[in-house]
Amino acid sequence: MINLVQVHDANQLAETAADHLFSLITTRNRFNLGCATGTTPVSAYKALAKRVRGRALDHVFCFNLDEYVGMSKTDPRSFAAYIQAHVLDPLGISPTHARLWQGDAPDPVAECQAYEAAIRKQGGIDCQILGLGLNGHIAFNEPGTPEDSRSHVIQLTTSTLEQNAMYLAGGAPPTHALTIGIATIMAAREIVILVSGIKKTSALDRLCNGSISSAFPASFLRHHPRVTLIADQAAING
Ligand code: PGA
Repeated sequence: MINLVQVHDANQLAETAADHLFSLITTRNRFNLGCATGTTPVSAYKALAKRVRGRALDHVFCFNLDEYVGMSKTDPRSFAAYIQAHVLDPLGISPTHARLWQGDAPDPVAECQAYEAAIRKQGGIDCQILGLGLNGHIAFNEPGTPEDSRSHVIQLTTSTLEQNAMYLAGGAPPTHALTIGIATIMAAREIVILVSGIKKTSALDRLCNGSISSAFPASFLRHHPRVTLIADQAAING
C-alpha cells in the first residue's frame, strides 16, 4: 500500500524525508538502510545529517541500490563515491558499516550473488530509500524487468543514460550496471520513495494510477504493504 505524503516543495520534501528516516533509525537497535543515489535524495541526506549531528550511528548498516559495471569505488562518478560523500561521511558511518556494490568486480554475476548474500546475512533491509526514474525504473530495474527479479546485470537505456549524463562526464559512459532486483526491493520491510519536480509528474501519475506491470517497474511498489511516497506539489500537479 502506498501512503502519499504531499509536501509543498523540494525543501519540505527533504525535511519530511529526514524526519521520517531519523525517527526510524533512532528507534531501533539495529537498522539496515538501503540508500538511493540520484539528485532527489541529496537534500534529504543533508537534512538527516543535521538531525543526526553528534549521535553515534553504530547500529546502522548501509547498502546501495546499484553501480555502473567497470567503475571502481574510487571513481568520483561511481555511486559508491556518492554514498561516501552524501551518506557515510555526513552521518559519521564507518565504511565497515556499509556494503556497496563493487562495480569493477571481475565477475559481475558473482558480485550480484554476493550482494544478495550480504543483504541476507545482515538480516534484510529495514528501509529502502528510492527515487523514481522518468521511465519508471527503480534502482536500475529498467522497463521490462520482472517483479521476481533479484540482483542482476542490466544494459542501461538511452533514457537513463541521458537522465544521469551530468554525473557521467569525464570518462567513457558505462553501458551496463549492477542493480538489486525488484524482488530485492520488495523484500525491504519499508520503502520510502522521493519524487520531486514537474518533470516527474507523468511518472508519478503512472506510479499511482497506471497499470501494474513491468512496462513501468515502479508500479510494482503498489504490491508492497508499507510504502511512504513523499512528493512535492510540482510533481503532483505539474
Ligand atoms: P533522481 O533519480 O532523483 O536523480 O531524479 C531518480 C532515479 O532515476 O532513480
